[in-house]
Amino acid sequence: MQANTRAAPRLIDYFPPRAEMRADVLNGLSQEQKEISPKYFYDARGSHLFEDITQLPEYYLTRTERSIMQASVTEMARLVGPNAAVIEFGSGAGAKIRLLLDHLHKPVASVAVEISRDHLLDSAQALADDYPYLDIIAVCADFTRPFELPPIPGARRNLVFFPGSTIGNFPADEAIRLLKVMNQAAGEDGALLIGADLVKDTHMLEAAYNDSAGVTAEFNLNLLAHINRELMADFDLDSFRHQAVYNEAAGRIEMYLVSQREHTVHIGDQRIIFSSGERILTEYAYKYSLSGFADLAASAGFRVVKVWSDPQNHFSVQYLIRG
Ligand code: AVI
Repeated sequence: MQANTRAAPRLIDYFPPRAEMRADVLNGLSQEQKEISPKYFYDARGSHLFEDITQLPEYYLTRTERSIMQASVTEMARLVGPNAAVIEFGSGAGAKIRLLLDHLHKPVASVAVEISRDHLLDSAQALADDYPYLDIIAVCADFTRPFELPPIPGARRNLVFFPGSTIGNFPADEAIRLLKVMNQAAGEDGALLIGADLVKDTHMLEAAYNDSAGVTAEFNLNLLAHINRELMADFDLDSFRHQAVYNEAAGRIEMYLVSQREHTVHIGDQRIIFSSGERILTEYAYKYSLSGFADLAASAGFRVVKVWSDPQNHFSVQYLIRG
């Protein structure tokens, strides 16, 4: 009988300590506009709910991005060239990285950087199973904070891959900071392949974040369940309602949890008072014009080389290099 020689991913673990989450959440809830960072959406259930969101009829982003990549992945691979190491920020379900890996010329490594450890390990193991010739590296880290990438032997260049318009979840100053981290990760002669959602009709945008099946509402409320579990809090999920609106002047979807009554929530020994109708800001999702995105990228030292879009110009996938 043959020994089981299942390839295992390399895990590099910078998992942020719980004390950091507690300080971050308490700080956000002590602001005039109460807020909780969207990075806390992604516990195991939140990651699954997000996968469900990507299948929803109203959530055009994922399938549009996939169709753009399917149509142009050969050209993308040609621009990247041979022997690349792909570094994906936020590891998702792995469908788009697979499309890329399948078309790149002799890629050497696939590195996923992701905060949700279980999700990261599942997708890294699945990649290791299907691409045994690749160096599969799982980096468990909050990529909004500084972290170190391991050396990747044999890579001719690094391609940072940041699909899904996750960049839109960061206000401009934070987006620039994050793009600078990616610029560093790309390194000398590196490149960035990034998905950026485009400005469009308000009705279509709001429908994408207020789906009729209520999955986005569940995803938003799960943030409170995650905090309850991790930080010994007592948020009552029935006391909050999901809200998502497009702020046209700011060019962004704003997602909130709206308190349905006056009440007090405990996080450990801390008390947070909510008035009726008071909102917790949980997420921004910026929508870009092509020139607006090019300016943002330029502030982080990137130059747009190529933009691919769908026939309706709903979404863009962009290839950027340093300089
Ligand atoms: C992960 N990110 C790009 C999603 C978005 O569209 O901003 C998260 C999301 N929030 C609600 N629906 C999806």
